[in-house]
Amino acid sequence: MNEAQARALLDWYKASGIDTAEASTPTDFTEWPKTPFRLDRPKAAAPARPIPEKEAPKPVPIADTPSTDEAVGLAQEAADGANSIEGLAAAIAAFEGCPLKAGARNTVVYDGIIKAPLLIIGEAPGREEDRIGKPFVGRAGQLLDRMLASIGHSRSSGDELGDTCITNSVYWRPPGNRAPTEAEKATCLPFLRKFIELSAPKVIVLTGNVSTQSLFPGAPGITRSRGTWREWPLAQGGTVPVMPIFHPAYLLRSPAQKRLAWADLLQIRDRLCAT
Ligand code: URA
Repeated sequence: MNEAQARALLDWYKASGIDTAEASTPTDFTEWPKTPFRLDRPKAAAPARPIPEKEAPKPVPIADTPSTDEAVGLAQEAADGANSIEGLAAAIAAFEGCPLKAGARNTVVYDGIIKAPLLIIGEAPGREEDRIGKPFVGRAGQLLDRMLASIGHSRSSGDELGDTCITNSVYWRPPGNRAPTEAEKATCLPFLRKFIELSAPKVIVLTGNVSTQSLFPGAPGITRSRGTWREWPLAQGGTVPVMPIFHPAYLLRSPAQKRLAWADLLQIRDRLCAT
């Protein structure tokens, strides 16, 4: 590949939202749990032809990222040490065990009212959320706010309907808005569990597949999971009713499904009124 081709490829990556160099050799993130991304991994095979020095890519520094098991252990330790939502948010912001953090501008933990009766759990920050540092502030977030308002709820403390908190399953934007990997979800899960414990909500709403699979691994896809109540067990005893719904980003692409989402919203409204 000559320099012009290499530059065109980089421009194409950038336009696709892939703006983070993770390593100088490709990493198969689907294999991450089996082949942890570490300094001591085997070296790539030598190129067939030596690259002249001026053509050679600059080496990308590789962080000594822990394996998934180590990262989950570190996340658990950090989550266990938090006694408040603010403390947990600080622990997440200080956590260095998730490689997504290196490519993110901000750590995105929550928005809305602490210990609110309604807790919404989304997927991962997108471009706007990464820029601003709050979940669900892009187009999908605006639709989510309208959906909440339609059943009399809001995340805004300045609003008389304010009774909602919003968080995510993963706290850093995946490059190019790809779906978070199993390893990334597993690493963030101890924090999410602790977020639920500290929030003690009356009802949890999971938007889309990623949050549904994070809390209920093996659950059917969102088309079959949505609209049916599940129970989330709390460490302090008791359970919280959980409703998976279509992700608002999906509803923006498939407006015909809003009919089903509306039926789910009515169930959520009734359950909140009853508790
Ligand atoms: N989608 C999500 O699931 N979470 C966000 O914060 C933004 C978009």
